[in-house]
Amino acid sequence: MRVLGIETTCDETAAAVVELAPSGEVKILSNEVLSQIAAHAAYGGVVPEIAARAHVDAIDRIVARALEGAGVKPAELDGIAAAAGPGLVGGVMVGLTTAKAIALVTGRPFIAVNHLEAHALTARLTDSLAFPYLLLLVSGGHTQLLAVRGVGDYLKLGGTIDDAVGEAFDKIAKMLGLPYPGGPSVEREAETGDPERFDFPRPMSGRPTPDFSLSGLKTAVRLVAERIAPLSDRDVADLCASFQAAIVDVLVDRTRAGLRVCRSFDVRPTALVVAGGVSANQAVRRGLARLATEAGLQMVAPPLSLCGDNGAMIAWAGLERLRLGLVDDMSAVARPRWPLDELRPGA
Ligand code: KG4
Ligand code: ZN
Repeated sequence: MRVLGIETTCDETAAAVVELAPSGEVKILSNEVLSQIAAHAAYGGVVPEIAARAHVDAIDRIVARALEGAGVKPAELDGIAAAAGPGLVGGVMVGLTTAKAIALVTGRPFIAVNHLEAHALTARLTDSLAFPYLLLLVSGGHTQLLAVRGVGDYLKLGGTIDDAVGEAFDKIAKMLGLPYPGGPSVEREAETGDPERFDFPRPMSGRPTPDFSLSGLKTAVRLVAERIAPLSDRDVADLCASFQAAIVDVLVDRTRAGLRVCRSFDVRPTALVVAGGVSANQAVRRGLARLATEAGLQMVAPPLSLCGDNGAMIAWAGLERLRLGLVDDMSAVARPRWPLDELRPGA
């Protein structure tokens, strides 16, 4: 089974072909990602209009490269998947329309994939993980704890009441004059900084419900930065290290609460999975690995190439759905919002 996956929900134009052999072996045959970072950098964030136009310009080329790289002709595909949301609707429409066109021309099934589900299922692509598992999904737009019980079967345990974790990294970076995207910049600065110099708050820590709140932490960083300005390089590094340490503590504490809630729903996860752009952060990975050891769980984090948005995760989610017969027709629309717990078959 070979599926083409197309991703255009944010600022990456991406396409990939993933193959599932009869032996059960999974292979990423190609994985093309074109980042628009340079186009948005001047604005310090993603500009939807610019993103949509850039997707239009690049999509045909990226899809052609993914097919060539995989050595697969469109007629040799078993399915064509595209992320149908959640995301910036102008961009989503570009990927969705392209996938529908290829599906119509080849007569192959079309699969409208939820971008969050694709992040959620990546651990099965890379590690053949069995259900159920606990997922911490942390990206620029989302921060959620989910019990992943099956394809399309997600139980949301908690989420953020204000900023997403990646968004907090991006805002702190902008505040400190570091380059966009903020996550990697803050992590780089933190490497040489002192995580104990500033004692930032760990919002929501100790609460039984696994929810997140990050705006207070962001404000605390801003107030300190304003108080000690002008900032030396050392100050910036220490602010980043202390902020990142607070984020790691929050993620570990909230995930621990998520595990407890999971058990109260009688879901016994076999693994702790972290996914989304922020899962590239090594300090976050180390913190969660400690928690997994403490809880006696396997810890799974995607390889760096699959942490950010990519086509392989869309192709894989499409393949998982296709083999269950969960295909879509041409009436599937782009969805700016699309919560994961609305995906249960029949829901
Ligand atoms: O999943 P993703 O590529 O796109 C969304 O669906 O949002 O996540 C992008 C987010 C950005 O906010 C970026 O700053 C953050 O992930 N990010 C990181 C790191 N790499 C990317 N945050 C912390 N540390 C990193 N190394
Ligand atoms: Zn994403």
